[in-house]
Amino acid sequence: MKKLIAPSILSADFTRLGEEIRAIEEAGADWIHFDVMDGIFVPNITVGVPVLKSVRNITDLPLDVHLMVDRPGRFIEDFADAGADIITLHVEASIHLDRELNLIKSLGKRAGVSLNPASPITLLEEAVEIADLILIMSVNPGFGGQKLIPYALTKATRVRELLKSHNRDDVLIEIDGGVTTKNIGDVSRAGVDVFVAGSSVFGADDYAKVIGEMKRAIS
Ligand code: DX5
Ligand code: ZN
Repeated sequence: MKKLIAPSILSADFTRLGEEIRAIEEAGADWIHFDVMDGIFVPNITVGVPVLKSVRNITDLPLDVHLMVDRPGRFIEDFADAGADIITLHVEASIHLDRELNLIKSLGKRAGVSLNPASPITLLEEAVEIADLILIMSVNPGFGGQKLIPYALTKATRVRELLKSHNRDDVLIEIDGGVTTKNIGDVSRAGVDVFVAGSSVFGADDYAKVIGEMKRAIS
């Protein structure tokens, strides 16, 4: 499976969002990771549907929408209409996960399920039959610029085994939080396909250099 880099625009300069997106596109980004926070599920508030719409207007890259919001089912249709390609929900925030994942798929989008660092993999046991992507949080969600929690790597390997046991090798494993040029090789060897990177990309002077280094480390 091709490995993908998904810069998180949470760490972009929002006064120049259009330029920032063009820059990561030229630098070789594969997806754009779009973090939505509601101040309830996580202790921070970010951006929502109108911003996603604007981003959709200026890029053809897949938009990877990570909903860190309580009861995410309320917003699935809005984000799908606004141009999301992948919509990921947290198991901890969704009461009717089966219904919501199927809703995302019925709208023609890829459905992701995310686990917080300390949430057990057993919560995915049934959802792996439906999901297109599993997002493993390698930091406690809410903020960019945190350190990767090392046990997330073991978790990725165990999710890979779970997927194998369900004959779901087609499901992507994504990791989110604290990914850098230094640790991305180890993260990749743990079985991860999609790498979210916020501060390590947008905090650098040369985006192409960072993304290039990341791609070499995972190839
Ligand atoms: C954290 C967000 C991440 C964040 C990652 O709650 O879900 O996507 O932007 O940022 P870094 O790469 O800086 O940890
Ligand atoms: Zn995220």
